[in-house]
Amino acid sequence: MVEPAKRLDSIELSHIRKMFEVCDENAISLGIGEPDFDIPGNVKIAINKALDDGFTHYTHNKGFLELREEIAKKLKNDNSLSIDPDSIMVTVGGSEGLYVCSQGLFEKGDEVLIPDPGFLSYKACVDLAEATPVAVEAQINNDYKLTFEDVQNKISSKTKAFIMNSPSNPTGAVMDKKDIKAIADLATDHDFMIISDEIYEKIIYNKKHYSPAQFTDNAIVINGFSKTYAMTGLRIAYLAGQNEVIDELLKVHQYTTACASSISQVAGYEALKGPQNHVNSMVSEFKRRRDLITKSLDDLGLECTSLDGAFYAFPQVENAAEYVQKAVEVGVITVPGSGFGQTCECNVRMSYANSYENIEEAMNRLEKIDLI
Ligand SMILES: Cc1ncc(COP(=O)(O)O)c(C=O)c1O
Repeated sequence: MVEPAKRLDSIELSHIRKMFEVCDENAISLGIGEPDFDIPGNVKIAINKALDDGFTHYTHNKGFLELREEIAKKLKNDNSLSIDPDSIMVTVGGSEGLYVCSQGLFEKGDEVLIPDPGFLSYKACVDLAEATPVAVEAQINNDYKLTFEDVQNKISSKTKAFIMNSPSNPTGAVMDKKDIKAIADLATDHDFMIISDEIYEKIIYNKKHYSPAQFTDNAIVINGFSKTYAMTGLRIAYLAGQNEVIDELLKVHQYTTACASSISQVAGYEALKGPQNHVNSMVSEFKRRRDLITKSLDDLGLECTSLDGAFYAFPQVENAAEYVQKAVEVGVITVPGSGFGQTCECNVRMSYANSYENIEEAMNRLEKIDLI
């Protein structure tokens, strides 16, 4: 075999995909990282119409203008951000947005702060850019909410960026406004970039989401449609930031994908412009399941923090590898915490993007683990 590039040596494929491979048809999967809901009906109609109208050609590299205008309105209304449509770039999922930011901003010698526990793509993207990931550990006794002090303690003269994620995958933590504001001040004072992954912004319970871009110019927002509108397979998201930065990042986007799929862009446009009742009912259902899983984990005696957003629980167990294996034996798929950071050897991620009944049944099955 022709030798792959050395920089791939440290890159591992996702643990989550590996868990699906062991999934038998009677097992209940709590491994899923996507809403188990259909896309809104109005979005389906818009997709079909776009096809009939022949909207199947390349668009502007940054995405078609009407979509970027709609995103600008959303950022203004929801996040109090004044961002020009020209400073918005539509990407092939938040995943591409993250990769574009990493390739466009990081290089050898740079340190990039990433949350631990945190979404597994962060470390991989920093590694692929040949920069150094620096874990910022969130404390379980602070419900895994990262604080200003956690971040401040890890800053050095080499710090290039902090990848922030609130609400968080895998912990469900929603950071406090005071910390977000103070970290934004740190970014301004120490001149580093906050890459704010806000993909779970709308999946939040009784808390308010704040974007650090409200408090500093040194921020790029990553947001998209995968989670809010259950559109994971359509691969559509966006970056928003300072115009000069977005124009530089466009070089990476242009030579990677040219533009996001025209049809998916129409889906995104319709999702933002159309009624939002679909989002509201999905979030109320997630909240019902959140309450169920919180109570059930408590009954099982598993330590779990307050789950304020996203659709994951991240309880602690004695030995995660063993627990995940035993869970498979009783017919439940979970994900070991180790993929989410160095501090997560004793955690298991359980997604509640599955029906209420399935979660109930999964919790009943997990009760039997002690008997194995
Ligand atoms: C925290 C976080 N960020 C980004 C993504 C990527 O989302 P997508 O590429 O589907 O927009 C995910 C997907 O699971 C995620 O959990």
